[in-house]
Amino acid sequence: MNAIPQLPLPADNPLMARAAAEIRRQGWCRLPDALPPELAQSLLLRAVKLRSTSFRRAGVGRHGDELINDFVRRDKIHWLDGRSPEQAAWLQWAEQSRAQLNRELFLGLFSFESHFAHYPVGGFYRKHLDAFKGEANRKLSVVLYLNPGWTTHDGGELVLYSPDIGAEEVARVTPLFGTLVMFLSEEFPHEVLPAHRDRYSIAGWFRINASHPERSDPPR
Ligand code: OGA
Ligand code: MN
Repeated sequence: MNAIPQLPLPADNPLMARAAAEIRRQGWCRLPDALPPELAQSLLLRAVKLRSTSFRRAGVGRHGDELINDFVRRDKIHWLDGRSPEQAAWLQWAEQSRAQLNRELFLGLFSFESHFAHYPVGGFYRKHLDAFKGEANRKLSVVLYLNPGWTTHDGGELVLYSPDIGAEEVARVTPLFGTLVMFLSEEFPHEVLPAHRDRYSIAGWFRINASHPERSDPPR
């Protein structure tokens, strides 16, 4: 009988193992200092640089069918393309996390998409869900915050609400540099409270493969 050669698996990130345990238990997690600080710093520098030329008002609705709505959200975004070293490093981090989360949680995460976001003073994003059951294929939302020295006076917290009808607040996250939040996209309504200073982040989504004979997903 031929032995099947064993390929070495990439080493598990202990931080991501903790995240997986939290997600299993409560559907969401918060990790302070989730990335190497040099990487988070270079992502912030890239976001600030791109902001003047390449950020666009974010829309509401499905891809390709979005509308600008001042009452819902006031952030500007730029989709990451991996074309600079720190974007590539971020996407690699996401890819390793995807593999590990699949090993630990069996979510069947298939791909990842993410954008930089900038909320100006007064910017907010009203309560919403990132995915609707049975419709979208966003499974796990990820937000990385890039704001050194952010305090509660600066507003701009992410508020997560419970998945139940009552939808009481389950967490309020300060968007402090290096903090990362993940939550099940179809389960947790959430909002961004008005920011009192410029607020930078990366929002991303792990998707399941909802490919269909007539429609290949993800579209980008
Ligand atoms: C989003 C979002 C949360 C945040 O972009 O969909 O909910 O804290 N962002 O920036
Ligand atoms: Mn959201």
